[in-house]
Amino acid sequence: MGEVLSVRELSKTYELKKSVFSIRSSKIRALDKVSLKVNEHETLGIVGESGSGKSTLARCVLLLERPDLGEIHFCGVDLLKLKEKELKPLRRWMQIVFQDPYSSLNPRKRVIDIVSEPILNFNLVDKGTVREKVKDILLSVGLDESFVDKYPHEMSGGQRQRVAIARAICTEPSLLVADEPVSSLDVSIQAQILSLFLKIKEERKLSMIFISHDLNVIRFISERVMVMFKGKIVEEGEKEEIFSNPLHPYTRLLLDYSIRGRGRIRGDEDKEGACVYYGRCEWRGKRCANEAPLLYGTENHRVACFLEGTY
Ligand SMILES: Nc1ncnc2c1ncn2[C@@H]1O[C@H](COP(=O)(O)OP(=O)(O)OP(=O)(O)O)[C@@H](O)[C@H]1O
Ligand SMILES: [Mg+2]
Repeated sequence: MGEVLSVRELSKTYELKKSVFSIRSSKIRALDKVSLKVNEHETLGIVGESGSGKSTLARCVLLLERPDLGEIHFCGVDLLKLKEKELKPLRRWMQIVFQDPYSSLNPRKRVIDIVSEPILNFNLVDKGTVREKVKDILLSVGLDESFVDKYPHEMSGGQRQRVAIARAICTEPSLLVADEPVSSLDVSIQAQILSLFLKIKEERKLSMIFISHDLNVIRFISERVMVMFKGKIVEEGEKEEIFSNPLHPYTRLLLDYSIRGRGRIRGDEDKEGACVYYGRCEWRGKRCANEAPLLYGTENHRVACFLEGTY
């Protein structure tokens, strides 16, 4: 199986400016040396609580935002070495679906204009045939002809997300990044949209990065799974392996409960030089206070924890 995407040691830090409430500016390490691979026709699921860096990773991988450090190889091309002009034609091969289809779709445009825009931008068909092409794509995401001239506000959340998916796949990308694409939908609709992702992945031989804070969603959709905590990967591997044999205390916690709350929980202080999970870990030892564990293991299963790895 060929590699579609290979990311090496991607890092991104945000600086929070001084405000009237704090005299010092502070830094947030949103991504800390994150490496990953996505093979052809494979779905990598990324799970982690709010603020763990999932969206930052998605934006940096697609170069919607520049990482501070690292490498991104897409179909063998080193993206960070390209100028924007050279990058532009490659963008059709990597597309994104966001969480909230209402804010990601222009409310003043009809479905026909929303979906035809990228098709025309990349000169995939001429103006005369674009309407037929849009109709075909809409059918493939479960929307009939009657949706072609509708506005986003005339549709349900699920239908709007179908339009967002249509817009993302109309340029025939090889990589689709989906950032919490079902989180804003009713539970009953979530299952339909997840099945749609599986269908288009099969039909179009897509590779996907699928982001969710919900392990059940990740379990349904992914072949491989990556668990993020505060900008770091703490565990990764084959889906069955991660779900049947979770090794990191954070993965175990996620499996036990579904963490949805925002903000920090008690005892979650950062300690410079410590394991990223130190503040929250109930198993922490002396070594964990002074050293950050690296990911250790085999291709099937890696974990960054001194309790588990053979260090
Ligand atoms: N543009 C920005 N400026 C400053 N800080 C940011 C910015 N974007 C993200 N952050 C911070 O970086 C960290 C990671 O944020 P990110 O949005 O990537 O997390 P996430 O895992 O996608 O969370 P969620 O599940 O809520 O979507 C957070 O602490 C966030 O506050
Ligand atoms: Mg996010």
